[in-house]
Amino acid sequence: MNNHITLGEYIIENQKDFQYSSGELSSLISSIKLASKVVNHEVNKAGLVDILGDAGNENIQGENQQKLDVYANDVFMQTLVNRQMVCGIASEEEDDFVIIGGKNQTHDNKYVVLMDPLDGSSNIDVNVSVGTIFSIYRRISPLGTPVTKEDFLQPGNLQVAAGYVVYGTSTMLVYTTGHGVHGFTLNPAIGTFYLSHPNMTFPEDGNIYSINEGYYIHFPQGVKDYLKYCQEEEEDRPYKARYIGSLVSDFHRNMIKGGIYIYPTSSKAPQGKLRLLYECNPMAFLAEQAGGWASDGYKRILEIKPTELHQRVPIFVGSKNMVAKAEDFMAKYPESEEY
Ligand code: AHG
Ligand code: MN
Ligand code: MN
Repeated sequence: MNNHITLGEYIIENQKDFQYSSGELSSLISSIKLASKVVNHEVNKAGLVDILGDAGNENIQGENQQKLDVYANDVFMQTLVNRQMVCGIASEEEDDFVIIGGKNQTHDNKYVVLMDPLDGSSNIDVNVSVGTIFSIYRRISPLGTPVTKEDFLQPGNLQVAAGYVVYGTSTMLVYTTGHGVHGFTLNPAIGTFYLSHPNMTFPEDGNIYSINEGYYIHFPQGVKDYLKYCQEEEEDRPYKARYIGSLVSDFHRNMIKGGIYIYPTSSKAPQGKLRLLYECNPMAFLAEQAGGWASDGYKRILEIKPTELHQRVPIFVGSKNMVAKAEDFMAKYPESEEY
């Protein structure tokens, strides 16, 4: 690994690629790198310390918070706040967006961060990979004023950077600033991320489909038809089913091997489950940068204009041809008459 360039070096060397290269975005990504090492350390000893299980409260979306959800949220929030890198943060685990320094605090910082601090948290108790997802926008409100909700409700195609950390058999940080997708593996002995996966790309075709098929009965007909197609006996099918239940891990595997991840609407979750701002947009940006595609079944995820912080959308993301095929099946049923 020692012949690899470190994430720190990579960020400095590629600063020119950042849209507005004042160094602020570089420092922001460095803060995320630092926080991810802290969370990684805790995740790695999860069975040994009292951090497994339920925190005893629900987030704004009515989901049980795990102790590690709360811990990871605190670490990322604190790291970004301490380093005074951003003017505001929105998190899956916070009711509302947070203005750094409190209400009415003005800022000259250019960026806002949106994050899912711990993705796949129901897997933590059983020693299965979890992740962190982040998304960064340049604020649209003027510098020197408090950050506003509109700064967070920008369509995904305006992201300046996005990425994830997967706390897996090894820990990786994968990100894009709009110049391809690059993956860095943590050497835990020395606490340094090294460039291990430059220019990651989705194979155009794949043979893995990832969906929670237990909810089949509740899926729209277009999804049911596509799943039948995945299972048909043809030259390159049936596809393999692989579903970890951590978006980050399922996405990461599919990017390396070729596949599609689907979290559709259902009669139980009419808007889908995954959150546009914290999960779908960053993954869609990464997917497109890696030559893949992300759709809500009918249209490009990155063009959806968000209306709420915790908005949910259905998602079909992964290898380009697979997502296109799934969209063909969806198109047979108009969006309003899906069921
Ligand atoms: P989170 O842990 O941040 O709430 O996200 C969980 C998400 C996603 O990671 C995963 O793919 C999906 O929920 C699993 O949902 P189901 O259990 O409904 O399949
Ligand atoms: Mn999540
Ligand atoms: Mn989460």
